[in-house]
Amino acid sequence: IKKIGVLTSGGDSPGMNAAIRAVVRACSYYNVECVGIYRGYQGMIEGDFKAMGPRDVKNIINKGGTILKSARSKDFMTKEGREKSFHNLKNSGVDALVLIGGDGTFTGAEIFNAEFNFPVIGIPGTIDNDIFGTTNTLGYDTALNTVVDAIDKIRDTANSHNRLFFVEVMGRDAGHIALNAGIGAGAEEILIPEEAFGLDRLVESLNRSKESGKTSSIVVVSEGDKIGKNVFELKDYVEENMPEYDVRVSVLGHMQRGGSPSCFDRVLASRLGVKAVESLLEGKSNFMVGLIEDKIALTPLEQAIKGSSKMDMELVKVSDIVSS
Ligand code: F6P
Repeated sequence: IKKIGVLTSGGDSPGMNAAIRAVVRACSYYNVECVGIYRGYQGMIEGDFKAMGPRDVKNIINKGGTILKSARSKDFMTKEGREKSFHNLKNSGVDALVLIGGDGTFTGAEIFNAEFNFPVIGIPGTIDNDIFGTTNTLGYDTALNTVVDAIDKIRDTANSHNRLFFVEVMGRDAGHIALNAGIGAGAEEILIPEEAFGLDRLVESLNRSKESGKTSSIVVVSEGDKIGKNVFELKDYVEENMPEYDVRVSVLGHMQRGGSPSCFDRVLASRLGVKAVESLLEGKSNFMVGLIEDKIALTPLEQAIKGSSKMDMELVKVSDIVSS
């Protein structure tokens, strides 16, 4: 392998820049050329490439977002789009790819590898932490800290006004952000898609909180929660059934994806980036690099995409106990 292409795709996450930096510098260390591909798979289709050396990635380890930009490319889902990509890579002499993203990114990589036998290695980058084969995805730790910080601030005003807040957090179909940030921020209740909580239990739990002397409450709601009502409908429901509550809603939204990566995410990104390049140079392909028991290990992309959830349901019990 003489030239490695690197791209970021799907929702951006803090730590992607640190991973790009690690890939570019590992390439330089091992005397391999490196090419940055802009806007994910869309840039691959359009041939939006730029040669990158160690100085092109200076001062980015601390930056959120991705200097390579990101996109969710519909064209790459077509055979025609993937053929164009293959020709662009061949014409530029790129003979292997490092793809930083989530399961959508990995699905694209797997198909591309199967069709063109093109060497690919994935780095898990998403705040959702919903990828099998790694205890942490890049950006998850930073997002947790961002959410905890935001809820701490919401708690100040909730306390001052004796209010109940529903705080909606991201995570797509996974409740990792909600459960962990909820415990970290001392939430009274946490609604996650992995657990069927139900409206009755919510009302019971709020009643218990009130009876135990609490004057304000924070309920963290994962955006993928299956309770059957969104946060605004939950507010209406509680106001109708428990008129004594003064309820407000806060949807944290995309601020959860931004900001300077935590030290944990920077170190993880550096380790994953180096291992991705080393794996390609060792002739490995169609794997994701991830963190397992504090070691960087490889998982077949197919398993990383389809593997079952790693939600630790013990945490639900912990949350119940510590919020009482
Ligand atoms: O996958 C990351 C994520 O931020 C999810 O948590 C969220 O559901 C989704 O992306 C939002 O996507 P978009 O930025 O396209 O609105």
